[in-house]
Amino acid sequence: DPADLDARVRAAKATLGDRVVILGHFYQREEVVTHADFVGDSFQLANASLTRPDAEAIVFCGVHFMAETADLLSGPEQAVILPNLAAGCSMADMADIDQVEECWEQLTELYGTEPDSSGRVPVIPVTYMNSSAALKGFCGRNGGIVCTSSNAATVLEWAFERGQRVLFFPDQHLGRNTAKAMGVPLTAMPMWNPNKPLGGNDEQTLGDAQVILWHGFCSVHRRFTVAQIEQARAEHPGVRVIVHPECPMPVVDAADEAGSTDYIRKAIDAATEPTTFAIGTEVNLVQRLAAQYPQHTIFCLDPVVCPCSTMYRIHPGYLAWVLESLVAGEVPNRITVPADVADPARVALERMLAAKP
Ligand code: 13P
Ligand code: SF4
Repeated sequence: DPADLDARVRAAKATLGDRVVILGHFYQREEVVTHADFVGDSFQLANASLTRPDAEAIVFCGVHFMAETADLLSGPEQAVILPNLAAGCSMADMADIDQVEECWEQLTELYGTEPDSSGRVPVIPVTYMNSSAALKGFCGRNGGIVCTSSNAATVLEWAFERGQRVLFFPDQHLGRNTAKAMGVPLTAMPMWNPNKPLGGNDEQTLGDAQVILWHGFCSVHRRFTVAQIEQARAEHPGVRVIVHPECPMPVVDAADEAGSTDYIRKAIDAATEPTTFAIGTEVNLVQRLAAQYPQHTIFCLDPVVCPCSTMYRIHPGYLAWVLESLVAGEVPNRITVPADVADPARVALERMLAAKP
């Protein structure tokens, strides 16, 4: 019973007081977000992990890579808890550390390791936040950095100051959309195919590459189409179309704007006149924004419900269970990144947090 679960969460949270902090990603369902101390995009939640060093436990209502990141950034005594261990991210799973190491070896063979006359190394690896801690560690060990959808352009600039080219993973769409907006031609963005030597690219293509893209994608954002945008424009003249940069390039090109989940929230918040917004991102966020801003008409571009099924695995029942376990002195579902991965991963994350927007 939802009311019963709600009461159990509230009671356990009240008993725990400041001992626990609950973080909720924008894509969580309302029954979870209502209990969160901080709600935000993945960048904001990474920062939020730093703000409560006094809390014994950080209960992360998001997906696995976000909880790993919170563990990297929080104090060694703090336990990061993922209420359901099955809440992963299919995109993060698309880049596996062995495949990335293999790609790196081939790129190193091709480009060498010598910096050019301005001191830029041949390749800088950039991983999207939506990746395992192992990949963040790989970036930390190899002069690379992490980005989120809210700082991808800043991070790519950071990388181009230090490298002749970038290897970007796991999300091809965020990489392509961001680099394109920065003026990188599509012909200079080959996609690495891990199943072929040299990614199936000839050396000429790779020689001209400025951004080498991994083949990953988000199964939620891939569903958005140009046809949906055309239909929204036909049915709602004057509609403002905003999509997440994990959407495919033609969708981003057809939209009026593209930005992270927090960008979308801020754009709606800043609109002074009643406006119709068609949004290309996860439906729980879109529905919440529609309820929060009744002066506007806000709808999801995908007419069939479009949730992130793994985020949805954080059922309020799991939240109640982990909080009640903490009350009972147990620490369930703790996410711990081993030190050999954590140290370099932290380096890559700290480079991101220090890169100026
Ligand atoms: P942001 O929270 O960075 O916008 O990312 C969206 C997302 O897909 C998280 O997995
Ligand atoms: Fe992963 Fe996409 Fe879900 Fe974000 S929305 S957690 S990228 S599957």
